[in-house]
Amino acid sequence: MAHSLDILGGISAERFLAEYWQKKPLLVRNALPEIAQILEPKDVLELALEDNVTARLIKQKDRDPKQWTVKSSPLLKADFQKMPKLWTLLVQAVDHYSFDLAELWKQFSFIPQWRRDDIMVSYAQKGGSVGQHFDFYDVFLVQGYGHRRWQLGQMCDADTSFVEGQPLRLLPEMDVHFDEVLAPGDLLYVPPGLSHYGVAEDECLTYSFGFRMPNVTEMMDRVTDKFTDNPLLKNPLTDILRDQISAIGQVTENELEYLKEKLFEQLQNSTVLEDAIMSLMSEPKYPDNIPEAEEIGTGDLEEALDQGYQLMLEPASRLLYTEQDGDILFWANGEGICISDEFAVHLKTIADGQSLALDESLYDADILEDIAMLLNESVLILVPTEAE
Ligand code: SIN
Ligand code: CO
Repeated sequence: MAHSLDILGGISAERFLAEYWQKKPLLVRNALPEIAQILEPKDVLELALEDNVTARLIKQKDRDPKQWTVKSSPLLKADFQKMPKLWTLLVQAVDHYSFDLAELWKQFSFIPQWRRDDIMVSYAQKGGSVGQHFDFYDVFLVQGYGHRRWQLGQMCDADTSFVEGQPLRLLPEMDVHFDEVLAPGDLLYVPPGLSHYGVAEDECLTYSFGFRMPNVTEMMDRVTDKFTDNPLLKNPLTDILRDQISAIGQVTENELEYLKEKLFEQLQNSTVLEDAIMSLMSEPKYPDNIPEAEEIGTGDLEEALDQGYQLMLEPASRLLYTEQDGDILFWANGEGICISDEFAVHLKTIADGQSLALDESLYDADILEDIAMLLNESVLILVPTEAE
């Protein structure tokens, strides 16, 4: 029997995926109690002021709370002066700043890593919200501190209209059928398109574990990029076989078919398509969050073997693989990477979310070179075992 998961309130991952994922909301009380200890409101305020952090400060006018303003990062101390009664601070990718938060992704391992977006945190005082809205994302909203009242309403789609003249895509109304207050550790899964409205009941932090999907435009863009890299495709095509004379203003059906065929021939090249898709899906959302690595050589690694270190994925980096005819192919941070067969099995476990002990079993020139390369590119990080 499929085993039940506490984070899903005792139902199995299989049942969650079949019945709820992308379809309907799920409320789980006390799903992730450990999240309560990680950040406090003051930490979020400090983080929002740091360089490179992506944050937004959303305010509602005291005179007319239907008037919203949004200030995007970089945020300055001055932005927090003369605050109205109702405001919300949103900070993206907090999982890149806290290992403890990044660790919590493991609780969602029933969804593959390539679907992950980031963990956003929202901070508000009583009454603060980001308004009634919907997202095109799957999101697990987890209460981290204080309380937030969540209302859920109708399903929306690309045709749904928004309140005019506001800097946020707000819904004019919501047909509320769910109304619950979440306390620290409580979780609410909201599928894409479902309207939702979360209002702080007191000083509160709410985490959004967001999941992304590529869109066709992005995929097309990457495919185009890959073809642009091929100089052979820059040569003009040979002409169609001309056995008839046509009107000079016309492009005949035949001619169009011929040109389309030439395009399709390339698009049938599955290696290029796979490379384009894998590159896109391994692109980091916030490349600036990837720290510059300290240069390390294979000699340093040799010395570090058996000294109590672990190799882990850098939280802001992305590492994905596909398996084809027994070969494992890797992409990291938007590019295909080449590593030795010996290391591939190990790297696969890291991509699957585990850490890898840096011990004698990795004592091999090729493996150490691969590890050094991945550390120098900040795809992997080396952490002391007890700090893991
Ligand atoms: C919030 O936490 O206030 C916003 C999260 C969301 O509605 O997606
Ligand atoms: Co939302």
